[in-house]
Parts: sequence; C-alpha cells; structure tokens
Amino acid sequence: MAQQKALFLLEKLGAWEVRATAIPQPGAGDLLIKVEAAALNPVDWKIQKGGTFNKMYPAILGTDGAGEVAAVGEGATGFKVGDKVFFEGWFSNDKATFQEYATVPAEITAKLPSNISLDEAASIPLGLATAALGLYAPLPKERFGGAGLPPPWEDGRGKYAGKPILIFGGATSVGQYVIQLAKLSGFSPIIVTASPKHTSFLKSLGVDHVIDRNIPLPELKSQLASLTISPLEVVYDAVSFAETQQAGYDALAPGGTLVVVADDQTKKDPSARKTVVYAVGNVHLPEQRATGVSLYSKLTRLIQEGEIKPNRVEVLPNGLAGIPDGLKRMEDDKVSGVKLIVRPQETP
Ligand SMILES: NC(=O)c1ccc[n+]([C@@H]2O[C@H](COP(=O)([O-])OP(=O)(O)OC[C@H]3O[C@@H](n4cnc5c(N)ncnc54)[C@H](OP(=O)(O)O)[C@@H]3O)[C@@H](O)[C@H]2O)c1
Repeated sequence: MAQQKALFLLEKLGAWEVRATAIPQPGAGDLLIKVEAAALNPVDWKIQKGGTFNKMYPAILGTDGAGEVAAVGEGATGFKVGDKVFFEGWFSNDKATFQEYATVPAEITAKLPSNISLDEAASIPLGLATAALGLYAPLPKERFGGAGLPPPWEDGRGKYAGKPILIFGGATSVGQYVIQLAKLSGFSPIIVTASPKHTSFLKSLGVDHVIDRNIPLPELKSQLASLTISPLEVVYDAVSFAETQQAGYDALAPGGTLVVVADDQTKKDPSARKTVVYAVGNVHLPEQRATGVSLYSKLTRLIQEGEIKPNRVEVLPNGLAGIPDGLKRMEDDKVSGVKLIVRPQETP
C-alpha cells in the first residue's frame, strides 16, 4: 500500500511523532486530497493536553486543509484530479489534515479561488465554520447548535441592518470570520474587543468600533452605551472564558442570543429570556451538515468576490515536524492575529 508521512499523537496525553503510514482511500462521495497546507488550531494542543475528543490512538489531528485533488471516490461530483481545493478535516485518521494525504466528502469541499494562496485557504475552514455555524446553524436540539439566523449566502443578506453586534475576540481567527459574516448580515455597528494594535486591520474587515480587550469587564456596558443605543440582540464570544461569557450575557438585551465556543458557564437570569448557544465549528457533523453544504456551495464565490478574506498567515518550517513547536506557541498565548500554517509535503 502506498505510504505517506503523518504526524501522530501517539497516545492519550502522549507525545507527537512523524511516522510513515498508508495513504487513505477515498470512500463513496469522497475526494482524496494531497494536503499542501494545513493550519494549526487551539483544539489541537487542547486535545493533546486535555485528552479530549480522540478515542483512537495513535491519532492524526488537524482540521484545516488545502491542496490538490489526487483521486475522486465513487459518486463524488464537481471535482477532478488536479483541482486545487480547501476543506475542513475531521477527527478520524483518514480525514484529519496533519498528513500528506486526507479524504473529505466532496459536498463539503470548495475549489480554490484565484485570489488567495493554498496557505491562506488553509486558514479558513474551522474558523469560518465556527463563525458561520454559531450564527446560522439551527438552534440546538441538544448540546450544540447556532443562533438560527438566516445565512447571508442564502436569503439573509442585510437582514440585520441597523442592529448592533458585539464580538469578543475580534482578532482571533474565529472572530475575524464572525466580523465578516456579521457585515454580510448587515449588522451595524460591529463592535469587537481586541488589542488596540489590531484596530486598523479589524476596521479593514468591517469593524466599526474596537473596545480594548484589557479594560475591566465591568466597564464594558458603559463603553457599549457610548457606541450604540439600539438593543444588543446578538453577542458572539470567540474567546469564551467564564468572565467574557458572563459579560456578553449581561450585555445582551432581553430575548437576545449569546454564542459561545466553549462550554456555557454563564449564570442565567430566567426573567431575561436570553438564549446561550454553544457553537461547534464542524461541517462534518450530521446536525449541521446541511448548513455546511450550503456554505461550501457558495464559498469559492464569496472569497473570489472579496466578501470573505482569509486570515493573515505565518508559514512554519519543516512541514509536519514544525507543528508541535507551533502548538506550544499557541498554548503560551504567543500567537497574535495570525494563523500558523504548515506544508505537509515539506516534512523532512
Ligand atoms: N467550539 C468550537 O468548535 C471552536 C472552534 C474553533 C475555535 N474554538 C475556540 O475558540 C477560541 C478562539 O480560537 P481561534 O483559533 O480563533 O484563536 P486564535 O486565533 O489562536 O486566538 C489568538 C487571539 O486571541 C486573542 N485573545 C486572547 N485572549 C483574548 C481576550 N481576553 N479578549 C480578546 N481577544 C483575546 C489574542 O489577542 P491579541 O492579539 O491581543 O493577543 C489573539 O489575537 C479558542 O478558545 C478555541 O479553542 C472553538
């Protein structure tokens, strides 16, 4: 069987190691992708340090990929060998992206538009999915879901004109995509918390006001009151510490919705009729697959037309072998406003 290199997490809470392994085969409806760029995400170090998510070891992680179609599985349509594409990985060893080849269902794969590189494309899938599913996936039936807003890539464009939105962590990868989707939904003003050094960049994405993320959170309400008098119906917390979640919940107008990206830790006021939804940013999940398929069908055009811009990227050396050091930087909070990318084909 043809071999490739992959980065394995050898056991629960264990060490990383690059090893040779078989190239996965595409199942029905799948594509096999030669992964030319993969992005690092906080979830990757959190799995290694926390032992969550993956039950099968040795495990391959990685949820962002971009590359070239190497084979087309039975019944997969819309793609041919050689197409440049980007896609979201999944937590199984055939579908994760910290390897030279991965499989993905064709219906949640997008062709690379001509205005971005493969490195930039790899910054998109997980961050954008978390933003998009948090805002537009159906309300949760059980543990996770979205705010159920109408997606702007369908018939929801401009629907929230004149309504403010608050986003915690505007400079995070997820936050940058929330900003751009909020703009398409018409939200105004778009208010974010971030380090002031990111202000001009965030304004280029559509932000109206940046609140310094270092202010004491009890000051947030008075700062918001100076920026908008309209009721705040939607807050997206792309940071989701206990204290930002609570500040977001408290800032919401009665009946409003808070989107969080980690377990809900808010103390509720039952009389305020506020909803908290836990966004899980993966378009592979059956509960949110339809929203994902719909997004991926429009994604190439949204990027080509400049409506969604990728994150700024930093390419790390040594391919897959460069991932552990990059994840350590993320864990140490030393990555600021940029997505770390590796090129698996450059693995020594
Ligand atoms: N539920 C899900 O499915 C899902 C999916 C993706 C991500 N997440 C979670 O979402 C969070 C963001 O992920 P990401 O990949 O977008 O992160 P990221 O881009 O790696 O985050 C780095 C950024 O966070 C900013 N930041 C840190 N603390 C902040 C605070 N208190 N207020 C405002 N900004 C702050 C930093 O700002 P400075 O530049 O000022 O240092 C830095 O720019 C992580 O906790 C991640 O685990 C969840």
